[in-house]
Amino acid sequence: MKIAIDGPAGAGKSTLARRIAERLGILYVDTGAMYRALTWKALANKVNLKDKAELRNLAVRTDITLAYNMGQVRVFCDGTEVTDEIRSPEVSRWVPVVAADEEIRAIMVEKQQAIAREQSVVMDGRDIGLCVLPDADYKFYLTASLEERARRRAKELVKKGYKVNFQEVKEEIRERDKLDTERLVGPLTVLPDSIVIDTSDMSPDEVVSRVLSLIGEDGNVIQVS
Ligand code: CDP
Ligand code: CDP
Repeated sequence: MKIAIDGPAGAGKSTLARRIAERLGILYVDTGAMYRALTWKALANKVNLKDKAELRNLAVRTDITLAYNMGQVRVFCDGTEVTDEIRSPEVSRWVPVVAADEEIRAIMVEKQQAIAREQSVVMDGRDIGLCVLPDADYKFYLTASLEERARRRAKELVKKGYKVNFQEVKEEIRERDKLDTERLVGPLTVLPDSIVIDTSDMSPDEVVSRVLSLIGEDGNVIQVS
């Protein structure tokens, strides 16, 4: 079973993916965490993010591991846990710049495909249906209004102890969506076979129920609308 979940920031992808994985007993792969971990390392090492050669050199020398523990994903970069650090506003700001590089994307896609070759997975990201799992059994495109997505992200940052300015969070998301959508390699896009779900007015529970009703626990499509 391969399930692809793509969509812009704050649409509810990881919340859905984690719960679907738990429900179906398959692996959840947070591909955004991989790009975030590399960005975190580049910032920590003061790498010039606009210098492609330097960045690519760093990417091939970096070991990123995702570990799964009671439904939570822990992220390790060269053996150091960076689960919390990779969610910082600074990493969020720079990650689309790192993720726009085609060689870095090739390295990440290769790693993600290797994981999916071994087992059933639900993966969330931007290019999962397009590049990583083009033959996925189901491709979902989650979205929500910019206002609602910014509200969700701001609430999360406050909970983590960051001082937030709502307009700044909204602008950061708008800018990141633009870079993710307009890049030449692996852009975020609705595919002809994507099932689009607008989660603006839906609770996480409602989104999970909708997806489960669309795929059925045995993986047969019951209804696609
Ligand atoms: O959680 P959120 O939606 O804010 O972002 P994420 O899934 O953690 O992804 C962070 C960033 O990584 C995205 O804005 C993209 O720039 C990049 N990314 C990507 O290019 N391709 C993926 N498959 C996943 C993430
Ligand atoms: O992965 P992505 O950036 O698409 O979104 P997320 O991290 O799953 O969700 C961002 C926040 O919105 C989380 O705190 C979720 O609990 C919340 N959320 C929500 O309020 N309603 C939904 N339908 C889905 C997520």
